[in-house]
Amino acid sequence: MPNKKQSANNNCTWFNGFVTRENREKLHNHKGAVVWFTGLSASGKSTISHHLEKRLFEKGCSTYVFDGDNVRHGLCSDLEFSKADRTENIRRIGEMARLFIDAGIIAITAFISPYQKDREQIRSLVSDNQFLEIYVKCPIDICENRDQKGIYAKAKSGIIKEFTGISAPYEPPGNPNIVIRSDELSPVEAAKRVMSLMEQKEII
Ligand code: ADX
Repeated sequence: MPNKKQSANNNCTWFNGFVTRENREKLHNHKGAVVWFTGLSASGKSTISHHLEKRLFEKGCSTYVFDGDNVRHGLCSDLEFSKADRTENIRRIGEMARLFIDAGIIAITAFISPYQKDREQIRSLVSDNQFLEIYVKCPIDICENRDQKGIYAKAKSGIIKEFTGISAPYEPPGNPNIVIRSDELSPVEAAKRVMSLMEQKEII
């Protein structure tokens, strides 16, 4: 389970249990995987993720959505929005998603995850067919119009600093598995497209 980059430097040794990922996948009747949504705030990542989770659940899959706003209440409540903190946020989620893959579960993640390098790091932790990167593309003015929290207005007036797309960068994926134009496609249609890809990749 640990990869080359993660040789123990703290006198800890990885312990393999009796039950393997393959055993768990057989039990769940699908593969473990991470479906990684990336895109601006209010682009539709969370909504699409929950539609996808519902469809997968109805099909009998074991799945769970990790959502940026929720995770920042607990696991990552010590982190803010500097580049270093976002990198650490994504690193923790990536490690957690990897454990979910080992558990034979489909982890769906909905984080802005604005830095290409951070997303590539997650991809390098798992096998190619276990990581699907979904770019939720939406013009920023539409995100701003959709935003019910008034967070874009706060960012524009400088109340919120380092806001993605306004005062902090968003690096679009160079080679995502799918691009979803959330200004053109409904969340239900978007979820269907991701499901098709998962079937194609024989995850489900
Ligand atoms: S990430 O950049 O580290 O991936 P994450 O997805 O966890 O971000 O959190 C994004 C959510 O935090 C946004 O949907 C928004 O509600 C809130 N937020 C608060 N401050 C910021 C900020 N400076 N930039 C972006 N999102 C922010």
